[in-house]
Amino acid sequence: MADTERQYDIVVWGATGVAGRLVAEYLTEQYDSDVVALAIAGRNEERLDSLATDLTAGTEWDDVPILLGDATDPESLRAMAERTAVVCTTVGPYTAYGTPLVEACIDAGTDYCDLTGEVNWIRETVDRFHDAAVEAETRIVHSCGFDSVPADIGTALVQSFAREEFGAPCETVRIYVEDGSGGVSGGTLASFGELFEAAADDPAVRRALANPYSLAPPGEREGVDPGEQRRPRKDSLRGGWTAPSPMAPVNERVVRRSNALLHYPWGREFRCSEVIPTGRGLRGAATAGAVAGGLGLFSAAMAVGPLRSGIQEYVFPDPGEGPTSEETEQGYFTVRVLGRRTADDDPFTVEAEFGADWGPGYGATARMLGEAGMCLLEDDTDSPLSGGVLTPASAIGTPLADRLRAVGFTAIVSEATGAGSE
Ligand SMILES: NC(=O)c1ccc[n+]([C@@H]2O[C@H](COP(=O)([O-])OP(=O)(O)OC[C@H]3O[C@@H](n4cnc5c(N)ncnc54)[C@H](OP(=O)(O)O)[C@@H]3O)[C@@H](O)[C@H]2O)c1
Repeated sequence: MADTERQYDIVVWGATGVAGRLVAEYLTEQYDSDVVALAIAGRNEERLDSLATDLTAGTEWDDVPILLGDATDPESLRAMAERTAVVCTTVGPYTAYGTPLVEACIDAGTDYCDLTGEVNWIRETVDRFHDAAVEAETRIVHSCGFDSVPADIGTALVQSFAREEFGAPCETVRIYVEDGSGGVSGGTLASFGELFEAAADDPAVRRALANPYSLAPPGEREGVDPGEQRRPRKDSLRGGWTAPSPMAPVNERVVRRSNALLHYPWGREFRCSEVIPTGRGLRGAATAGAVAGGLGLFSAAMAVGPLRSGIQEYVFPDPGEGPTSEETEQGYFTVRVLGRRTADDDPFTVEAEFGADWGPGYGATARMLGEAGMCLLEDDTDSPLSGGVLTPASAIGTPLADRLRAVGFTAIVSEATGAGSE
């Protein structure tokens, strides 16, 4: 449980970056200073001062304290972790900068949440820190943004509805990234590039990316799922065509880790996949082919060192650059999660819709991370786990959906009728 005797309740680490600033803005707009003792932290005092001034202008906040540190200076991270109950961190790429903060938070008993989608780095923290975090009763919660809250919490919503209404979980869950708009930042693309770099340099990273169960606990890294979809495919659950989703490699593994950490409430034979639906008929097939082909070409180019460097230098924006505030506020997304159970005489299908009228990677992600931090602070979870390297569903669960619904997200679940028809 978060230590609320600390000087601060939540520190936003990386507050001068694109995502960190939005998290700090969200928390100061949504909560009063007597509800949450907030501080912002980073390595650049001048930029933090300027942000603190912006955060207090036109709000009831008189002051937002700043803390200085550097990701390469473990002592500064330890000092920060000891002063707060929860850290929300947006300092990425996490493969490059994330590990010392995880260590500092476990040593200080400080709950932690981040925005990483870097599977290789999550795997590293699982292997190096899970047992220590369990022992310290400290929650290290990865992937609390668009990667992987809609997929992971959407699945938790479907499965808790199935178990409550039908007395059994769905054996198959499919996550459909239906639509979205909202821009992408240099920081996110730098993290994406870091993943390809690590895969090119390190065979262990390639092995971790190849195994669909690579984020499961050691000894449990195999199962029935074959891995993410790579080609256009006709959809067996609701008909129409689907294309591979670029976020499937992280989201699917996070959902499988949730099931494993919670001791398989969704069954050992549980299958999950994430796809982009592209519609029916010839047009749907052609769109699925184009998306799959484009993604394949992009991945192939990113796997080649000189091409990767060229794309990073000339195509991607620099870290620190991001979508305009108009793009983050005017964006939107919808993720639909279908769960199906056929094992019994009465098959059923459950459907969750998870979405928001903010850009998925920034406006919505900032709210997801901010609310994940609030859940840890207030122990607003349905989780039996008090520590470990965790996922949103295993650390927090459906209370995160309740909080996001209360601040404007769509997070609804019901029995689906007519699913599976072509
Ligand atoms: N899961 C999702 O859906 C999602 C969505 C958005 C972002 N993300 C991830 O979140 C991370 C941040 O994204 P972003 O767009 O906000 O990137 P960004 O604008 O480049 O921000 C990075 C932050 O890290 C700080 N930083 C870099 N090196 C540091 C160091 N040595 N010590 C202390 N601070 C350091 C930067 O500080 P300065 O300002 O001083 O340079 C900045 O505050 C990325 O890994 C991205 O992939 C994930």
